[in-house]
Amino acid sequence: MTQVATHHRELIFSPAIRIFHWIRALSIVVLIATGFYISWPFLVAPESSDVLVQGWIRFAHVIFGFALTSVTIVRFYLFFFGRSSIERRSVKDVLSINSWITQIKSYIWMGHLNKAGVYGPLQFVTYVGISLAALFMCITGLVLYANVYHEGFGGLIWEISAWFTALMGGLAQVRIWHHIITWAFIVFMVIHVYMAVWSGIRFKHNSVDSIVSGYDYHKDH
Ligand code: HEM
Repeated sequence: MTQVATHHRELIFSPAIRIFHWIRALSIVVLIATGFYISWPFLVAPESSDVLVQGWIRFAHVIFGFALTSVTIVRFYLFFFGRSSIERRSVKDVLSINSWITQIKSYIWMGHLNKAGVYGPLQFVTYVGISLAALFMCITGLVLYANVYHEGFGGLIWEISAWFTALMGGLAQVRIWHHIITWAFIVFMVIHVYMAVWSGIRFKHNSVDSIVSGYDYHKDH
């Protein structure tokens, strides 16, 4: 029996995009867990002199914080200057009312999702939002860092951190907003994972797999 190819595959995510996606995912999970611990250090009794636990957890937070900061910078660069325009093309859809209607309709099983790039307009706007939230977390995180570590890199960014602190109305505000925006990542992660699995089922194509392998599959017509 001869095999008939019914699907063709297309490389949609470069290795760099995939690697950075998973570094970001890991960093964000660690940052949420360690961040909440920093704000409520429940493992050590208040009267105890054992402060190493807090120190180690803050150390992990800072390491993954720098990982996230580096990836955020590289990812902004890749979005604008990367070789493939598959992400940038979505801007076209964001500016078209028809594309929005097509995406919303396809979500309620009315018609297909036609898109110029790799993301639908609603998806793209959500990713821009979470990327800006990441940028905000990196800036406020670095400001908090400069207030804990006064030498080396902390000292280097001290002046600009002081300027940013004044802009936000004091260090307490920087810390509170760094804490509040943490919730944006928790809400995003739950919806993001749900939508990734759901859209793979709804549109019968690779979805979760493609951010691992890079490939998407389309049915031949
Ligand atoms: C999605 C990313 C991030 C999340 C969810 C997150 C979460 C948190 C949370 C919940 C806190 C505790 C705030 C409080 O005291 O109530 C915190 C503190 C802190 N974060 Fe982040 N953070 C993130 C990114 C970063 C980055 C990029 C840096 C930069 C290095 C950073 C550096 C710090 C520092 C220095 C503190 C204060 C530690 C202390 O008070 O000793 N964070 N973070």
